[in-house]
Amino acid sequence: MKKIIVNGGNPLCGSVDLQGSKNSALPILAAVAAADGISVIHNCPDLTDVTAALKILEHIGCKIKREGHTVIADSSCANRFDIPESLMREMRSSIVFLGALLARFGNASVSSPGGCEIGLRPIDLHLNALRSMNVQISERGGRLNCKAAQGINGGNISLSFPSVGATENIMLASMSARGETVVTNAAREPEIIDLASFLQKCGAKISGAGQSVIRINPPEKLTGAEHTIISDRIVASTFMACAASAGGKIAVSGVVREHLDPIIPVFEAAGCESDFNGRELIFKAPSRVSRVKSIRTMPYPGFPTDSQAIVMAMLAKAKGTSIITEKIFENRFRHVPELVKMGADIRVEDGCVAVVEGVEELHGAKVTACDLRGGSALVAAALGAAGKTVVEEIHHIDRGCEAIEKSLSALGADIKRE
Ligand code: EPZ
Repeated sequence: MKKIIVNGGNPLCGSVDLQGSKNSALPILAAVAAADGISVIHNCPDLTDVTAALKILEHIGCKIKREGHTVIADSSCANRFDIPESLMREMRSSIVFLGALLARFGNASVSSPGGCEIGLRPIDLHLNALRSMNVQISERGGRLNCKAAQGINGGNISLSFPSVGATENIMLASMSARGETVVTNAAREPEIIDLASFLQKCGAKISGAGQSVIRINPPEKLTGAEHTIISDRIVASTFMACAASAGGKIAVSGVVREHLDPIIPVFEAAGCESDFNGRELIFKAPSRVSRVKSIRTMPYPGFPTDSQAIVMAMLAKAKGTSIITEKIFENRFRHVPELVKMGADIRVEDGCVAVVEGVEELHGAKVTACDLRGGSALVAAALGAAGKTVVEEIHHIDRGCEAIEKSLSALGADIKRE
């Protein structure tokens, strides 16, 4: 299996371009299936999860062309509404195709996505919402067979939790609903706004995206459109954590400042400095970061759960003790034992609270990535550790970070992929 080798100790300096957002690209590529005709999607990151989404589009009959970071998709010949188990298994977030296939065909047959490394990942909110839109759903043998025999109804849907995926599936299914769909307690993440922006270009009328109440009125017919995906705020925070761990000063170009509003205060509390020059973030790390007393992951605009692991990696060498509470996923501390192998002093209490006692130094070790963000955290820690670290199972990282070793090497890190 491929691995990443890091010889720690080099401070980072230089500039890196920020990739397009994985968590925006996936729902927008699903939306391509709901829109008839040609869509051109720019700034689409080159990730294994994106490749999996493109395979699903081809499976249902779309013609796909990839030119660098641009995807040209012609969905006019799409004629299937089933996603085979093999493709569903490649990427559990393919559940977001459910709403798109229902909008396009009034039918969808997918496998239950099941859990993943970070938690059980239930989809009850998705299914309850779709049932309230007049979708009949039968779960048999691990398959979800969904049908809107009398068409999809709009209406008022209130989510008990602002689920990103459930909000996206409702937005997609509502593209062929009769009447207006109003989602209350909707997710407010920037990726929701980006999906709404694409759907509006395809003809939909959507107001309130990014707020807790979204109103959606579908067009007569959803047609393909051209769109540029927003940059990836989580990968931006990954580069920040790498610089904070290794020391140095970096520039990250292509950021959207407001997307980093929930993240910057945590890095500033740790003693890092952030300045913005238009869409460029200038980020400077202190020689040793300070502890951050308490961090709690929350839905946007709270501190993002996807940045929890990388911030923990940074705080492993902080002056003092930091407390990190993971409120979103039930199994998102799998990077802790791996960081402990590198000399970190971290204990987990009640399964959701990590007490991070900062140590003077981390040392290289052989560690294993257990999930995407946990794997990124191990790379960040390795950059600031003394000696050589080998990170295994790096396919997890490639799901969400485009060629992480190339970007970090360009910033002066001694890092390579084997
Ligand atoms: C999206 O996952 C992201 N993935 C995740 O990023 C991100 O961590 C998460 O949102 C929260 O921001 C994509 O966008 C592809 P949720 P999603 O539905 O939609 C519970 C990464 O590393 N829940 O907001 O699955 C769920 O168990 C990934 O890039 C239900 O109980 O997140 C969790 O506790 C990881 N029932 C919480 O809600 C449901 O029907 C948040 O889930 C749905 C969710």
